[in-house]
Amino acid sequence: MTNRWDGLAPARPAVHLTPPTGWMNDPNGLCYVDGHWHAFYQHNPDDIVWGPMHWGHASSADLVSWNHHPVALSPNEQGTIFSGSAVIDHDNTAGFGAGALVAMFTQDLEGLQRQSIAASLDGGLTWSVSPSNPVLEVDAIDCRDPKVLAMDDGDPRRWAMVLAVGDRVHFYRSADLKHWNLEGEFTWDLEADGVWECPDLMRLPRSDPGWLLTFCVTNAGPHGHSASLAVPGHFNGDRFEPSAAPSPVDFGPDFYAMQSFHAAPTDNPVVMGWMNSWRYSNSHPSNGWRGVQSLPRLLSLADDGHLLTAPAVDLVTRSSPLHDSAWSSEPDRAIYVRADGSMRAEIEGDKGLVATIEVTSQSASITRQGEVVEGYAQRYEAELTQGGIHQIIIDHGTIEVFAAGGQASLSALTFPGEEWHVRVDGQAEIRLL
Ligand code: FRU
Repeated sequence: MTNRWDGLAPARPAVHLTPPTGWMNDPNGLCYVDGHWHAFYQHNPDDIVWGPMHWGHASSADLVSWNHHPVALSPNEQGTIFSGSAVIDHDNTAGFGAGALVAMFTQDLEGLQRQSIAASLDGGLTWSVSPSNPVLEVDAIDCRDPKVLAMDDGDPRRWAMVLAVGDRVHFYRSADLKHWNLEGEFTWDLEADGVWECPDLMRLPRSDPGWLLTFCVTNAGPHGHSASLAVPGHFNGDRFEPSAAPSPVDFGPDFYAMQSFHAAPTDNPVVMGWMNSWRYSNSHPSNGWRGVQSLPRLLSLADDGHLLTAPAVDLVTRSSPLHDSAWSSEPDRAIYVRADGSMRAEIEGDKGLVATIEVTSQSASITRQGEVVEGYAQRYEAELTQGGIHQIIIDHGTIEVFAAGGQASLSALTFPGEEWHVRVDGQAEIRLL
């Protein structure tokens, strides 16, 4: 069956992680080991729709170009492999060996969700699941996506973990990654009624409060899209005290399942999110693969407590000036726009206008045209209250806007087909990535 949106699948993005084949959703087990960034991800290698989940695996030296590795974890008798995290066990607390990479993830056995661990002694290439699995069972239908973090508070319970359980986050501690004690929980009365997923807990050095709790809700974003939410607060190792209400990390439709990299060599958290919305992720145009991860981002808190988001990579040194305000797409290249005032960009494909990006001193927005898939064609907007440089990355099938020095980010998929054109107006410099 053909329809008017056929031919709209984009080419492979130039500076974003996509699966070699099949389906990809959440980033999992993000970690930095021996000079390499590792991204595992929810993966169905055999189809372009969600299905029996594996962990795919890629690594990168620069967070921009990714090398693909064999599938890391595959379904077994305890279930399929849902989202989770990975830590380096320098002191062999879990008994797999000093320096083992230990992953903790949810196994889903026809709806029964339990938490398991696995270890890798070769930097994430090959894994053995633990004979102690499952290591944690919670009496709840939805209990998943454990995110483990190494604590440095002198407590012998070296590890902390956050788990999404129904409409809340549970906080656990453990000395050995195998025995976990529930210490506290956090919930909030949100307008969206979806279950909470993919929590994370990050340190914000030199900030007060010094922690950021994040979690995701499938329908909490603009126009009912999926959203990653953040709550700054205080964490004493067991309990979390919020200092503000949860607020969106990103104001576009396509930034979900955000996770931070364990052991990143930066002061501030480096995060990545799946650029998609569960509203249409299984049905949007595709070309043999589905799923793209956002550019890695650095999170920080402004003095007034506002969350700031910036690309984690220095894109200026990776790009060259274009000396033109218009560009026709080329394989393996993307566009990087820096603006210090109002700007507007239009992206056009074979079938007409695809998206408009507008940034003024008051707001930043992405407007998508053409109801390619239900819920797609909307205007997505963030209010701006301060100045600052705007950074916009337009890749094959993706737009990311970091407005006003990172005061607001917006992420959106686009479906322009393999060839498209962009025109930029305003006080902007266009560079080629
Ligand atoms: C979030 C999510 C997780 C789950 C995974 C399954 O997108 O629903 O909660 O572990 O995807 O693929």
